Amino acid sequence: MTSSPLADLPEQTDALLSTIARLASLEELRDAEATLTGRRSVFSALQKSLGSLDPELRKAAGAELQGARRVVEAALEGRRSVLEREARNRALESDRLDLGDVAVDAVAWPIAAGHPGLIAVTQRELEDVFVAMGFTVAEGPEVESDWYNFEALNIPPAHPARGLWDTFYVDLGDPETVVLRTHTSPTQVHLMQQAVETDSLPIHSVMPGRCFRRDTPDASHLYSFHQIEGIVVDRGITFGDLAGVIETFTRAYFGPAITSRLRPGYFPFTEPSAEFEITCTVCRGEGCRTCSFTGWLELGGCGMIDPAVFEAVGIDHAQWSGFAFGFGIDRCAQMRHQLSDLRALVENDTRFLGQFS
Ligand code: PHE
Repeated sequence: MTSSPLADLPEQTDALLSTIARLASLEELRDAEATLTGRRSVFSALQKSLGSLDPELRKAAGAELQGARRVVEAALEGRRSVLEREARNRALESDRLDLGDVAVDAVAWPIAAGHPGLIAVTQRELEDVFVAMGFTVAEGPEVESDWYNFEALNIPPAHPARGLWDTFYVDLGDPETVVLRTHTSPTQVHLMQQAVETDSLPIHSVMPGRCFRRDTPDASHLYSFHQIEGIVVDRGITFGDLAGVIETFTRAYFGPAITSRLRPGYFPFTEPSAEFEITCTVCRGEGCRTCSFTGWLELGGCGMIDPAVFEAVGIDHAQWSGFAFGFGIDRCAQMRHQLSDLRALVENDTRFLGQFS
């Protein structure tokens, strides 16, 4: 009796399964397919050898062989899908954009740190000078009612400053009653009202902030600019105190070579009023194009607080007196750094901004 042709089938199957488990790539799998389960496989050879068996045995052996082949085929398909998944992942991996590396390569190292802009720096320097002189710093709203921006400051309805050509009006349905403040002076009014309400006079405060006027931008005008307002309300305050504060500030901020002068001026909310001028920072008083050959540059306005303003806020001007001043922060920066064009302050050109870091 000859031994069954399938006697070694279990070992042969195990050997095929471990070969399949070691297939490392789809190429290897494709190359091995014919010898594992295909034409040149042990299954094909055994199938042929079954022909010599008698029919009963052949049927049983055929079924056994078929079962073993299915196990190996299933293992081969399982290995195929594992290898396909690995190949897909490798493709995705090599396609992946490493954004970390891209970002790192795209910037110039070391990354330049940002810094406050020239206006913010100037505002802080001005505040420091006034704080050193005993002033506190306060802020007021940029959107104001007509009353705070004009009326309480003794600016009558017909005053040209109220004209549509000067002021941005906020349309809240009721025309010309809400404005973007045209100066920081309305903050004086808020401060005096608060001091009256809280019974906390005297006041020695500066009020920096942004203002708006309907100006066409040019070298010396912007539709949005910054002012710093100052007020002192106390007993026995005189014009001499005002002049002293202005001169002390001028030398502290611009240096000892620059001095101030007050020339008669007009503002509805101060009486008497003055224009506040400083030595031209370009020619140091010699006379040049910047100062129209006068040796002086106008910085802002000032004066003794008008009794009408005290009345509007409910301060007794028989007991209290005071002065106010206001000037441009942008203009201070322009004069101190001799900027030929104010528009550079808002154009965000880093070649300009970087000079003030
Ligand atoms: N508010 C005035 C202006 O914008 C300046 C000023 C302030 C004048 C305080 C007098 C007193 O021109």
